Amino acid sequence: MNDSRSDRWSSLESPQAVADAVQRLRQMTSTRSEQQAMARWLDILAPQPGQSLVDVGAGIGDMSMAFARQVAPDGTVHALDLAPGLLDCAGQRAREEGVAERVRLHVGDARDLPFRDDGLDHAFCRWVLLHLPDPERAVAEMRRVVMPGGRILCVEVDWATLHVEPGDPEITQQIVKANVDRQVDGRSGRKLPALLRSAGLERLSIVPVTARDHQGDWLSFLESRLEVAIEAGVPEKALFRWWQSIQTAAGQGTFHLSFTQYGVTGMVPPLTGTRP
Ligand SMILES: C[S@@+](CC[C@H](N)C(=O)[O-])C[C@H]1O[C@@H](n2cnc3c(N)ncnc32)[C@H](O)[C@@H]1O
Repeated sequence: MNDSRSDRWSSLESPQAVADAVQRLRQMTSTRSEQQAMARWLDILAPQPGQSLVDVGAGIGDMSMAFARQVAPDGTVHALDLAPGLLDCAGQRAREEGVAERVRLHVGDARDLPFRDDGLDHAFCRWVLLHLPDPERAVAEMRRVVMPGGRILCVEVDWATLHVEPGDPEITQQIVKANVDRQVDGRSGRKLPALLRSAGLERLSIVPVTARDHQGDWLSFLESRLEVAIEAGVPEKALFRWWQSIQTAAGQGTFHLSFTQYGVTGMVPPLTGTRP
C-alpha cells in the first residue's frame, strides 16, 4: 500500500491527463481477456429490464453502456465519476450507442453518493476502490443507496498477482512492486471480501478471474509500466534489456502475462419481520 492518500486516478484535471486516461481505459477494456471478464460481471450482476443501478467511478462508461442495454427499455444506469472529462466521453458513447435515454451522468464522489437511501436495485464498482484511501466509505455509500435485497458487485485487480515471462525475474519483481506501490492500494482485490463483509453485506460470492495473454494484447500496458519502474528507481539499462526480451518473445509467440482480479458480490440484508 502506498503512503499517499491519492494516486493519478484521484484527480484527472488537465486535458492531457484525461486524454491519457481515456486511451489507457480503451486499451485495457479492448483486450480479449477484459472483454471476457466484462461479460462475466454482466452475467453475475444481471440487472433486469426496468431496474436502476449506479456504476461508481464509471470512467468512460464501458460497463455503464453494457448495463444500459440490459435495463432497457425503461431502467436507468447512473454513471458517476469524479472526472467530468471522462463522463463527457461516456455521454458521447451513450449517444452513439443509442442508450443515452438510459444513462444519467453524475459528477461526484464515490464516498458521498447523490442518491437517497434504499432507492436503487444494484451498485457496481470496477477498478476504483484501489484508488481510495478509505474504500470502506465508498462501500458504505453503495450499501446505503441500494435497497434491501439488492446486490453490490465490486471488481478489483490484485496487482501483486502480475506474472510476466520471459525477462530477468529480479527486474520483473521490481516492476511488479513499482506497479503495486503506484496505486493507493494495489492489493485491493484480495481485500474485497473482508471489505464487503465488514459493510454488513450478506451472501458473499467471490469470483477470481485470471487474465492470460500470450498474443500481446497487454504489451502497451506493460510498456507503460517501464516509466513507473524508472520513477521507482529501477535502472534504465536493465529495464531496456528486459523489455527487449519481452518484445522478442512476443514476436515468437512465447510471451506470457497473467494477473488476477476479483469480482465480489454481496447482498444488502433483506428486511425481516412485518412493517407497520
Ligand atoms: C481505473 S478507472 C476505472 C473506470 C471504470 N470503472 C472502468 O472500469 O472502466 C478509475 C476511475 O475512478 C474514478 N475515481 C477515482 N476516485 C474517485 C472517487 N473518489 N469518486 C468517484 N470516482 C473516482 C476515476 O476518475 C476513474 O474514472
